[in-house]
Amino acid sequence: MSASAEKSILVGVCGAAGKMGREVVKTILAQEDMTLVMAVDTEKHAGEDAALSAGLADPCGVQIEKDLAKAMKAKKPQVVVDFTAPASVLDNALTVLKNGGRCVIGTTGLSPQGIEHIRTETLKQDSATIIAPNFALGAVLLMKFAQEASRFFDHAEIIEFHHNQKLDAPSGTSLNTADLMQAVQPQFGRTNQDKAEKEILLGSRGGKTQGNIRIHSVRLPGLVAHQEVIFGDVGQTLTIRHDSIDRTSFMPGVVLAVRKIATMKGFLFGLENLI
Ligand SMILES: NC(=O)c1ccc[n+]([C@@H]2O[C@H](COP(=O)([O-])OP(=O)(O)OC[C@H]3O[C@@H](n4cnc5c(N)ncnc54)[C@H](O)[C@@H]3O)[C@@H](O)[C@H]2O)c1
Repeated sequence: MSASAEKSILVGVCGAAGKMGREVVKTILAQEDMTLVMAVDTEKHAGEDAALSAGLADPCGVQIEKDLAKAMKAKKPQVVVDFTAPASVLDNALTVLKNGGRCVIGTTGLSPQGIEHIRTETLKQDSATIIAPNFALGAVLLMKFAQEASRFFDHAEIIEFHHNQKLDAPSGTSLNTADLMQAVQPQFGRTNQDKAEKEILLGSRGGKTQGNIRIHSVRLPGLVAHQEVIFGDVGQTLTIRHDSIDRTSFMPGVVLAVRKIATMKGFLFGLENLI
């Protein structure tokens, strides 16, 4: 083994045949300080070469496997990147942690209890995990700017736009944005609450957070991941918008998280903690 390979971070990808997973496979294979050692997806992709499945011309020699626990024991990745589905991510994370791996989780739709379970297991195993609902730098900045604007505006609504294959609504990013905004402005839209509003079509006003921020979820083919936070005050509005127009927008954040998680211990929520 060469000196650089010895220093390499051994990485696994869970959800390797998915839209995000394929992008992550290509990205990890392109990093000089990382080695792809494990790729996991469901039965129908088992046996495929991860690089070929990701659209690369040459195979990488890592076959997609379907059994995460078995793959963890055989391939021993140090860090596992998970882009799967809301129903799978908790079990996956616990399996990774119990088998000596560290977690970089991009899958959204985890419940607060699920997040707490992963945090507790991470600390119990003396391991490391980051859960980031959005790995795009611009989205993290949008959240920071929205939090800052919330000191001055007490009326705001969020519109998030995603491709129509997305399983969870509203998006993890919109919920995270609302949490950050509510940390500085606990109740939005007080004057909206005074009137007797009637929803003619159920759901027209979106979902309401604890701090009274309305979140509206748009799902259409052609979209990737987009979000607007609109603030209102007398005679003015302020709109902050971010667009991920391609899944490559998430990859620098994923690489940063893999490097950080490989060397730290503990639990982090949100890419904002790494930049
Ligand atoms: N954090 C971010 O920046 C970010 C960005 C985009 C998407 N996402 C989230 O990532 C997740 C995946 O998105 P996608 O568009 O790639 O979805 P996708 O449906 O294209 O891919 C998911 C893949 O996971 C596989 N899978 C499902 N359950 C599995 C399991 N138990 N073990 C192994 N593989 C399993 C599926 O077979 C599929 O190939 C979603 O939750 C999405 O919201 C997060």
